[in-house]
Amino acid sequence: MRNLVCVAQRVCVLLALALAVLPAWAQSSSGGARQFSDAAEWSRWFDSEERDAWQKPVEVLSALALPRSAVVADIGAGTGYFSARLARALPDGKVYAVDVEPEMVRHLRDRAAAERIGNMHAVQAARDDPRLPEPVDLVLMVNVQGLMVRPGDYFARLRSMLKPGGRVAIVSTRIDSPIGARAQMRVAPEKVKQDMADQGYALVAEHDFLPYQFFLVFSIK
Ligand SMILES: C[S@@+](CC[C@H](N)C(=O)[O-])C[C@H]1O[C@@H](n2cnc3c(N)ncnc32)[C@H](O)[C@@H]1O
Repeated sequence: MRNLVCVAQRVCVLLALALAVLPAWAQSSSGGARQFSDAAEWSRWFDSEERDAWQKPVEVLSALALPRSAVVADIGAGTGYFSARLARALPDGKVYAVDVEPEMVRHLRDRAAAERIGNMHAVQAARDDPRLPEPVDLVLMVNVQGLMVRPGDYFARLRSMLKPGGRVAIVSTRIDSPIGARAQMRVAPEKVKQDMADQGYALVAEHDFLPYQFFLVFSIK
């Protein structure tokens, strides 16, 4: 009888655990691009003035020290928070605002037209391929890392899309940040460094001025 009670207790504990984990799993399995279909709604968050205080876009761009003629791909551009700023900062350059979500791509195209940003070009990507029209000097990825399905394969493919001396900058929510991406979408910087090293990238800069995100820059070894 005691054994039976024990087994029943264990089953209850396992069931409770499964129910606790299920919502997180359900969110992440439905994750990826689908959840970013409402561009106007996301824009209220992504492009809010409050974000500037902690996202520090001016400092991020300054740390990247790009020449005015640089060609940049903002992969996972979302509503264009960084793409628009990059394009304005690079009057002789070009910015590809890349996203997998068609609604975001439409929003990016509309934004470029509405704000008359002629050097910002929206690109419809596939989940495993940014489909860049030409090699770039810099790939910027802000809060996209945790959404990548196979980051190793992705960054291996990206190598051929960088110009000689090209860099990949990754900004992503810290594991212990009080705000930002959902917990199950966060990635430790050590894991990113390992994934990148495995694909032949060298860490060339690590900036720590962002309060909620890590900021790593890589180039090809
Ligand atoms: C959290 S949002 C970040 C948006 C923007 N980088 C920013 O900081 O405001 C992530 C974006 O990445 C896009 N995304 C997810 N996986 C992607 C992939 N494999 N390639 C390109 N875009 C992707 C999503 O559709 C979404 O718009």
